[in-house]
Amino acid sequence: MLILGIETSCDETAASVVKNGKIILSQIVSSSLNLHKPYGGIIPEIASRKQVELILPVVKQAIKKAKIKLNDIDLISVTSHPGLKGSLLVGLTLARILAFALNKALIEVDHTKAHLFANFLSHTKPKFPFIGLVISGGHTNLYLVKSTLDFKLLGCTLDDAVGEAFDKVARILKLGYPGGPAIDKLAKKGNPTKIKFSAGKEKENFNFSFSGIKTAVLYYVRDKWDKKRVKLSDIASSFQEAAVKSLIHKSLLACDENKVKSLVIGGGVAANSRLREILLKESKQRKIKVYFPAPVLCLDNASMVAALGFELYRMKPELMEAIAT
Ligand code: KG4
Ligand code: ZN
Repeated sequence: MLILGIETSCDETAASVVKNGKIILSQIVSSSLNLHKPYGGIIPEIASRKQVELILPVVKQAIKKAKIKLNDIDLISVTSHPGLKGSLLVGLTLARILAFALNKALIEVDHTKAHLFANFLSHTKPKFPFIGLVISGGHTNLYLVKSTLDFKLLGCTLDDAVGEAFDKVARILKLGYPGGPAIDKLAKKGNPTKIKFSAGKEKENFNFSFSGIKTAVLYYVRDKWDKKRVKLSDIASSFQEAAVKSLIHKSLLACDENKVKSLVIGGGVAANSRLREILLKESKQRKIKVYFPAPVLCLDNASMVAALGFELYRMKPELMEAIAT
């Protein structure tokens, strides 16, 4: 079965062709990130205007690279929510038109959940039930996932998403946008225990909070930073340590409380090297299997959208749009 995935929820315009929900035949991701850099964040109007230009060439390229014809596609899977409205409409409109014109099945999927299904593009697919942690620029969601159709949200951020906190702290430290990769790189040279930051209160629930730590970094840099004693890399490293430890603590607690032995991570922040390092070590001690997508599949892409579409289609073909007869 050949699935065409389409993703336009934020600054990316992406299309992939995936075989049987597992094998990526092509993955094209075009980003308008450079156009947003001067503003330190995504400008929705700029994103959607660029997507209008890019969507057809990107889909054509994905089909060509997969060495198939458009009509060989069996299923179209597209992100319908959450995301920037104008951006979502670009991908969604093309997907609906293609499904209608070619008489193909169409599935509209949740971008946040799709991040977890990046882990299904592998020979060792996660087995249900698992705890799912989606950590991106827009979300910090912790789920108990019993099946493709059974997601229970255990907790989420009460304020900033963790990726947003990386981006805002990077701006305070003048490291540019997006901040996650820059902090990750600089933190390797710093001391993670130099400054005691903490992210959120360790209450026994599964919600997160990252706006306090961002403000703590701001006040530290403005009022307390002794540049002779503390390097910029120490601040980056200490912030990152607190942020990833909060994610790890709650995720492992969710595994324990729900008696689940698999933890599946997705989203841009899943590329963070310190998160991977600590989590792999701690999970081994607790005999929990952790799944991370390949770094290229952590960021927004259409292969994960195709993977979730395939799993939904397998579970419930009646979910597909009535357009296909
Ligand atoms: O999943 P994604 O591509 O887009 C959303 O759906 O939001 O995630 C982008 C976010 C940005 O906030 C970026 O700073 C963060 O992921 N990010 C990272 C790393 N790479 C990307 N955060 C921490 N460490 C990284 N290595
Ligand atoms: Zn995303």
